[in-house]
Amino acid sequence: MSETIGVYEIEDRSFPPPPDFAAQANTNDRSLYEEAEADYEAFWARQARELVTWSKDFHTTLEWELPFAKWFVGGELNITANCLDRHVEAGRGDKVAYHWEGEPGDTVTITYAELLTEVCKFANVLKAQGLGKGDRVAIYMPMILELPIAMLACARIGVAHSVIFGGFSADAIVDRCDDAEARLIITADAGYRRGAPSPLKATVDTALASGAPTVEKVIVANRCDLELDMVDGRDLWWHELMADAAEHCPAEPMDSEQLLYILYTSGTTAKPKGIMHTTGGYLTQVAFSHKYVFDIKPETDIYWCAADIGWVTGHSYIVYGPLANGVTSVMYEGTPDTPSQDRLWDIAERYGVTQLYTAPTAIRMFMKWGAQEPAKHDLSTLRVLGTVGEPINPEAWMWYHEHIGGNGRPIVDTWWQTETGGHMISPLPGVTTTKPGSACHAIPGVFAELVDDNGNVVTNGGGYLTITRPWPAMLRGIWGDDERYRETYWSTFEGRYFAGDGAKLDDDGYLWLLGRVDDVMNISGHRISTTEVESALVDHASVAEAAVVGATDDVTGQAIVGYVILRGGNEPSQELGDEIREHVGVKLGKIARPKTVIIVPDLPKTRSGKIMRRLLRDVADGRELGDTTTLADPGVVTEIADRAATDDEA
Ligand code: WTA
Repeated sequence: MSETIGVYEIEDRSFPPPPDFAAQANTNDRSLYEEAEADYEAFWARQARELVTWSKDFHTTLEWELPFAKWFVGGELNITANCLDRHVEAGRGDKVAYHWEGEPGDTVTITYAELLTEVCKFANVLKAQGLGKGDRVAIYMPMILELPIAMLACARIGVAHSVIFGGFSADAIVDRCDDAEARLIITADAGYRRGAPSPLKATVDTALASGAPTVEKVIVANRCDLELDMVDGRDLWWHELMADAAEHCPAEPMDSEQLLYILYTSGTTAKPKGIMHTTGGYLTQVAFSHKYVFDIKPETDIYWCAADIGWVTGHSYIVYGPLANGVTSVMYEGTPDTPSQDRLWDIAERYGVTQLYTAPTAIRMFMKWGAQEPAKHDLSTLRVLGTVGEPINPEAWMWYHEHIGGNGRPIVDTWWQTETGGHMISPLPGVTTTKPGSACHAIPGVFAELVDDNGNVVTNGGGYLTITRPWPAMLRGIWGDDERYRETYWSTFEGRYFAGDGAKLDDDGYLWLLGRVDDVMNISGHRISTTEVESALVDHASVAEAAVVGATDDVTGQAIVGYVILRGGNEPSQELGDEIREHVGVKLGKIARPKTVIIVPDLPKTRSGKIMRRLLRDVADGRELGDTTTLADPGVVTEIADRAATDDEA
């Protein structure tokens, strides 16, 4: 029996935890769920005291004034003492923190003791620049070890970091630095991508030439030996500052609610939101979820999250979670097809990776490349496979299960968001019987419900995903905009956090995520707002009006399709369309560049003047999409006109 929900078929295939796995798992029964259901505050308090080392114990687990939460109130801790010092003090200083591998094949192995020293030195560098508690620093770096070092150095001295994904544009840097009033940018000359240096410092120069007046200094790590224009009095070399830095920097205790970082994410308007995360609750939930969702055994595991630290997945599951749990991680700089399409499997085999965490879009790409690629390698050390970022289609799930997991490894499909800080809905690999394509259930201590348009709880069938109780790693707000925080997340359904996702509950109580229900697209697991791309399109001098939709794409989940109307006096041409596409790439960064731009004479609108996006999406879905511009060929126009005539969208 199978039933269709959204674009997926629910199948009756299910996979109980393999008995030998369950027997050794960190948890293999319902006790954590039961404990949390009985008293979730007591449950989280226990996790906080077991998984985190506090310099001062907290007196109150939760203060909740909807929508503002404080967790572990009165408690003090230093997050880097938890990630580094305590492992070194316990005699585990020689344990490898990261096996780092550069794209060209160069490697660095750094132990916990060495990482601690580097972090202390860089914290002293930041202090020497006059930075301390209450300041913000922007970080725009490739996937090199200086990136976690920079983040941890900030955290050690109470500076909040704001990591900007290395693929973002100069304008994006300006917007984020302005909003956060960042005093300093940490960057690198470049990082290796697809076999060549991909410059970063040059983009910072462009950004600072046009704005971001709060930025006083730029610290530059040397990764690719590029010749750079170093601005006198502004730009400083990482290695020169580090050469003189003292190796000791005390881990000052911070308040549990000390701002740890701001991470910008796309919303439904053109202005990205600065999501704020604090210290004690965040660390508790990422350490807990990392330990139980991935079944981490710090003594023996080699864990690998193949995400980029520029996104929340990297913050929580490359940096803070794994380091708090004292596990050895793999960190890889580059692209999965350089120099060949088995690069990931080669890395996994060489280091003996035990957990792999990646995205459905990557899995679909691996499927395209073919099962012969992983088959070249011995992947038998893998114990748990994770996915994140977008709904995983059962076909990709099964491929992962078969070709990477050799049919015997639990898969954890983890649903969460930048805003949630850590995992929210996921199987526990020793407990949950999984179904291909379902994220299964809320983790212990997290409470999710579906509601309908009127806010009534849905116990079977489709609805909007909401979270009903506060959770430790929840966002503490939007930087500088409490009202927007309340409005965006807490006003749609009273008393509930509304995530922006649709989902369905099946007869067995399993959750199936169906994707965003707002104007946010999900391209390769990256959130991009339609409005943001539309503003970038109309920012081009030749564009009068634009409508952007996320069309279905086999590999990237969704692909950006932009419909544009030209301003009078402009002739539609391939060149102009390509220039418009490129313009978005420059404005927002390559990941936001539309896959296809369709130049149209008109856009279908309702009588009240609203663009009929659903229709445009259907039109885009019915066409072969390429990395191209399509002129207003009569085919598109008649198709839009025909459908508009029959579409009853209000
Ligand atoms: C989507 C990434 C289905 C969802 C950690 C969410 C998912 C958005 C899943 C957050 C999943 C993430 N199944 N959808 N397992 N994981 N999403 O903030 O739409 O970059 O709202 O955080 O990605 O994206 P973000």
